[in-house]
Amino acid sequence: MIDQPTIDRILDAANIVDVVSEFVTLRRRGVNYVGLCPFHTDKSPSFYVSPAKNICKCFACGEGGTSVHFIMKHEQVNYFDALRFLAKKYHIDIQERELTDKEKQIQNDRESMLIVNSWAQSYFTTQLYEHVEGKSIGLRYFSERGFREDIIRKFQLGYSLDQRDALYKEAIKKGYKKEYLEKTGLIVSYENGNVNDRFRGRVIFPVHGLSGKVVAFGGRTLKKDDKTAKYVNSPESPVYHKSNELYGIFFAKQAIVKADKCFLVEGYTDVISMHQAGIENVVASSGTALTQQQIRLIHRFTNQVTVLYDGDAAGIKAALRGIDLILEEGMNVKVVLLPDGEDPDSFARKNNATGFTEFIKENETDFIRFKTRLLLDEAGSDPIKRSSLISDIIKTVAIIPDNIARSVYIRECSTMMEIEERVLLNEVNKIRLKEGERQTAPPSPVIQNPVENIPTDILPGHTVSPDDTVTEKPKRSPFEPYELTLLKYIVKYGSKDLYKKKDPVTEEEVILQYVAEYVKTELEQDDLTLFTPLYKQMLEECVSHCREEGFTSQRYFLAHPDPLVSRLAAHLISEKYQLSKYHSKFRELDKEEDMLKQLLVKELYAFKNAYIQHQIKDIQNKIKQAQNENDPDKIMELMIQLSQLDKIKRVLSKELGERIIIN
Ligand code: CTP
Ligand code: MN
Repeated sequence: MIDQPTIDRILDAANIVDVVSEFVTLRRRGVNYVGLCPFHTDKSPSFYVSPAKNICKCFACGEGGTSVHFIMKHEQVNYFDALRFLAKKYHIDIQERELTDKEKQIQNDRESMLIVNSWAQSYFTTQLYEHVEGKSIGLRYFSERGFREDIIRKFQLGYSLDQRDALYKEAIKKGYKKEYLEKTGLIVSYENGNVNDRFRGRVIFPVHGLSGKVVAFGGRTLKKDDKTAKYVNSPESPVYHKSNELYGIFFAKQAIVKADKCFLVEGYTDVISMHQAGIENVVASSGTALTQQQIRLIHRFTNQVTVLYDGDAAGIKAALRGIDLILEEGMNVKVVLLPDGEDPDSFARKNNATGFTEFIKENETDFIRFKTRLLLDEAGSDPIKRSSLISDIIKTVAIIPDNIARSVYIRECSTMMEIEERVLLNEVNKIRLKEGERQTAPPSPVIQNPVENIPTDILPGHTVSPDDTVTEKPKRSPFEPYELTLLKYIVKYGSKDLYKKKDPVTEEEVILQYVAEYVKTELEQDDLTLFTPLYKQMLEECVSHCREEGFTSQRYFLAHPDPLVSRLAAHLISEKYQLSKYHSKFRELDKEEDMLKQLLVKELYAFKNAYIQHQIKDIQNKIKQAQNENDPDKIMELMIQLSQLDKIKRVLSKELGERIIIN
């Protein structure tokens, strides 16, 4: 476990721009930075990073928070692992105590699986370099293929002994659980109790996730018979979703940003050989059709993909289909056809970086041009084939989101296919219209929420309803938006003094009330409280700390040990106008602070008023019910309650008027 002072130190050290740029390409915009949001399909930059506030936020999907939240979400790790990640990055020591047996047991599957994978990777590497079989078979194979030692080390290649359960036995001896060996697919258990190593007798290609953790393995057989599958891969698991991963992304991401371009190839050996030739901005889809998640992964780093194909026609045609997905993402796609019989692996081995790069430069073709030419050649003069090809190309062009790029393609295709531009344009628009209709779903109900853009999943579901009746389903407080607005002031200004007075004797300034105290007493005066337990707890915490020397509410909540609290705090302080309008940024903030008293009065009133209205409506409903049941006593009683509420309502609005004037 990590103590609070250490958490504070980590948060102070972690520079949000620094942390986010490791995964997202950021561009400066005023005092902020923007980039493509890594958490949703973002076609224009919606992800804002504010160095001043040290937080980030996507104004399209709402994700964001402090550096810790970003790492949690991005790396899919828990709060403490995110802190550890940052501590490591900023060289901050964490004193961690040994986990108890119970804690070990409850460590979640994901983490355990990653630990097992990391151990297995080093085991495979050790076998490759130290075991006689590894050296004479595995290492020899790699060197015969021409892989240099630094490259073998870099990609952490390994060897799995040709024995039934060598890895299994060693893992158990080292104390790893069979359960996780099974879940990661390192072993295969049979009903009769037999256990086999999955990768036995194969050379090993570890698959690294974006942050460099080993999420899976590919094992290549060295046998030449046709019966054995050439590659065996780890199965799908909580740490490995094949369709989300790209082989090589960890080793490529920086080079992709630098080159502002990503090469896409088919397999493990293509990536490795290209690295060896000095081209590092390359990833592989591992032999399957490209998925949208994989494309998004690339899009975080660049807008430009160049697909490298080996020269055989069947492969090209199969790959064509996946490419529409890249266009749909609004990315530019180019194609390079390698000389017949060469794949990127063999071609890289015959050429150095300069030769390879030159070949690419000379042969890189825009994808749509490439596809059109390819299909035109194939169709020849057959009119039926030609017309089907034309509609095929039109569909592809229609996918391109950018208007200008689309019209450029329409013009070009019109020349290439010898069809009037107007006709093509018409067809493209028809398709886009139809697509548009399909995509415009009925408007989803939007919760009226004065606190802009908080993803609902971070808002706590369990709330006590105002009248304290316990409902079966956890219900949200109907006043949540009002509560959140008040909470925003608590987080931002809770520790600020609101009322001060000079002591007539000592002449010292005495603080009568801090913002947090004010809100609490104002609510209590009317027998009210924040109904959402988490919000109430946050208010209480702020009240109990606000008189402490050096206490700052914003800092306190952002570094809160409960990640739900710190994440909510980050969202509450990240309103869009404050993050994006850099001109008025400071003035806006000043304004809010200057007007704090008025704003608080107004928001407290809004909350109380909403509460009263809610109660009134409730009683009106009960009266209706009592009328139906013909219960005059009940009606009478309710009418009295109603008139009391009306009185309160009048008092409230009168108070509001007066106090706004006084202040
Ligand atoms: N692949 C796979 N399972 C298979 C065949 C292929 O997962 N049975 C994936 C691997 O990621 C492989 C890629 O598809 O790297 C491309 O396949 P292929 O071209 O057959 O393999 P190479 O990487 O070229 O391997 P090698 O050069 O050693 O034959
Ligand atoms: Mn190959």
